[in-house]
Amino acid sequence: MTTASRPINVAVLGATGSIGQQTLDVIDRNPSRLRLFGLTEGRRSTRRTAEHIVQGQAGDPDFDARVEAMITDPRCDLVVVAIPGARALAPTMSALKAGKEVALATKEVLVMAGELVMRAAGERGIRTVDSEHSAIWQCLWGEKRESVRRLIITASGGPFWAHPELDLDQVTVEQALNHPRWSMGPKITVDSATMMNKGLEVIEAHHLFGTPLDQISVCIHPQSVVHSLVEFIDGSLKAQLGRPDMRLPISVALCYPDRLPGAVQPTPLEELSGLEFHALDEVRFPAVRLAREAARAGHGRPAVLNAANEEAVTAFLAGEIPFSAIVRSVERALAAFPGGGDTMQDILEADRWAREYVKDNSGKLRAK
Ligand SMILES: NC(=O)c1ccc[n+]([C@@H]2O[C@H](COP(=O)([O-])OP(=O)(O)OC[C@H]3O[C@@H](n4cnc5c(N)ncnc54)[C@H](OP(=O)(O)O)[C@@H]3O)[C@@H](O)[C@H]2O)c1
Repeated sequence: MTTASRPINVAVLGATGSIGQQTLDVIDRNPSRLRLFGLTEGRRSTRRTAEHIVQGQAGDPDFDARVEAMITDPRCDLVVVAIPGARALAPTMSALKAGKEVALATKEVLVMAGELVMRAAGERGIRTVDSEHSAIWQCLWGEKRESVRRLIITASGGPFWAHPELDLDQVTVEQALNHPRWSMGPKITVDSATMMNKGLEVIEAHHLFGTPLDQISVCIHPQSVVHSLVEFIDGSLKAQLGRPDMRLPISVALCYPDRLPGAVQPTPLEELSGLEFHALDEVRFPAVRLAREAARAGHGRPAVLNAANEEAVTAFLAGEIPFSAIVRSVERALAAFPGGGDTMQDILEADRWAREYVKDNSGKLRAK
């Protein structure tokens, strides 16, 4: 990719969203390095100009064809994928097959089809836009893979971790969307409240870094300052720290291997006193265990986990099922899944199966 002679041409999928808007902000503030080449908008508008502006819904043939034309345009250098959920898989694969750099926010893509996506990425790899994975990536720069003992993904705990007195059957949509540290789109905010976000992130890290599942831990860190850590075989721990601001991982992904001057405000050391780390309560929040089990069993189960979760989160946000039924839906879908294969077609079939299962059984899934 050209960085010296001209700015990097960036296409942003999901430009009206939380990641999308912060990506546009990073691009706007660095015109000598980055150029907004194209974008997609769903129901909202960015009111921006670019060579390609694609409006509509993924899955609509006209939208999909125009997105394909944008990301395979020879002038496009880098594609930021920030449309949530399984619908981001097709454009991610298109961008990789066209040889583009991919900055991936949509972790669901790696959860459902991590092996196929990483194979398509090849040596180039994927530039992660998840804050925890960006932290791990930065800790791994210059290190040998065999020097790593384990990855430690931090979790803020979401809005309910610090409130064990709350009955998770009774919490409202408004309470679930009230994240204590990060301002994000509704899907990932609910995933943070159920802790499914951490389950998805364990699978994401497994694929991104080629680390075995049993060498990836999760710990609760309510301040969200330590974005994640790597433990090495000599006993040393490396961490990446900073205020919770997604513009840092976005900048790292857009400009790698350079760092953007002033991407975010530095963190005063006084703010680092009183950092806490706690073990995850896997009884109250079983999502991480479910995700590990699904990833270990493979053969379409991670796609079932992801799709059942997406459907259940949508139903919760629509007021159709209680909060506690989200993870229950995932657990029951995984238990009922007859097993599948590992091709793209198998994965899409597992995804379809899980969505139908959750829709068809929504009445039963409401009950404990
Ligand atoms: N937000 C974060 O801090 C954060 C951090 C790490 C990872 N992520 C991941 O990044 C992804 C995006 O998260 P977000 O928080 O930015 O989500 P968001 O705020 O809900 O934004 C989603 C974007 O995708 C578009 N979109 C949604 N459904 C679409 C569809 N069917 N067809 C076409 N476009 C569609 C939306 O368009 P309209 O709104 O215009 O309809 C919007 O531009 C998620 O996978 C999330 O897990 C987010």
